[in-house]
Amino acid sequence: MIRETHVSVNGRSTRYLEAGAGWPIVLLHAFPLNADMWRPQLDRAPEGWRMIAPDFRGFGPDAPLAPAHPALTLDDLAADIDALLEALGIAEAVIAGLSMGGYVAFALRRRSPERFTRLVLADTRAEADSPEGREARLKMIELVKGSGPAAVADQMIPKLLGTTTLQTRPEVAATVRRMIESASVGAIAAAVQAMLTRPDSSADLERISWPALVVVGEEDSITPVADAESMGRRLPRSRVVVLPAAGHLSNLETPDAFSKALEDFLLSSM
Ligand code: MLT
Repeated sequence: MIRETHVSVNGRSTRYLEAGAGWPIVLLHAFPLNADMWRPQLDRAPEGWRMIAPDFRGFGPDAPLAPAHPALTLDDLAADIDALLEALGIAEAVIAGLSMGGYVAFALRRRSPERFTRLVLADTRAEADSPEGREARLKMIELVKGSGPAAVADQMIPKLLGTTTLQTRPEVAATVRRMIESASVGAIAAAVQAMLTRPDSSADLERISWPALVVVGEEDSITPVADAESMGRRLPRSRVVVLPAAGHLSNLETPDAFSKALEDFLLSSM
């Protein structure tokens, strides 16, 4: 059963979804979605584990309609996660992030490495944006301000989902569209700005001593398999799992396979 709770974090009401009981694992969501994207994993919370999926500032039903702070950084989002863990009395946890959630995990590691017991990096990368990537981000800020979240959904869904999902699982595309369209213009613009200014975390990989799982959808075109494999090679204690028939949102596209990779990792003694 999934529980939905609201707590005050850094002066803001923050929603988090929770399932199971035991060792904590924190699930950090992708852009421009919200904690609901983790429902398939929360539904399959492994025995002995407490899964916690918070909304990032600006996303999810608690988000105010007023624009989020325009100078938001990923460090701000990491500070929110730190404060949430403090509020919940959780000293350390497995930290798992998918795509933007992975960028926030890197920021949290810089801020509070003592919080981590293990790390899961799904469909993400350690590098900062390329110059072309930054150009595309600026265009997305213009797009959302001019045409709204629905236009962002139109542009992003064909990239977020793999070919198999696009061709055979229309319900996944509908779920993703609902989440994107529920985000405000201000939240989307602020998160794009935060990703655009994120630092390069690739030099940190070699210093990560906890066991790490790298998961990637075989059809991920945003953070492809080659990026995941290169991240895996640089992480001293890692395993890489490639999920067939999944794109960038691998946890939503092939939830059983994603949850199995996660559970195998949590139960392993790496
Ligand atoms: C995400 O899924 O969080 C985004 O695709 C990340 C990005 O745009 O870099």
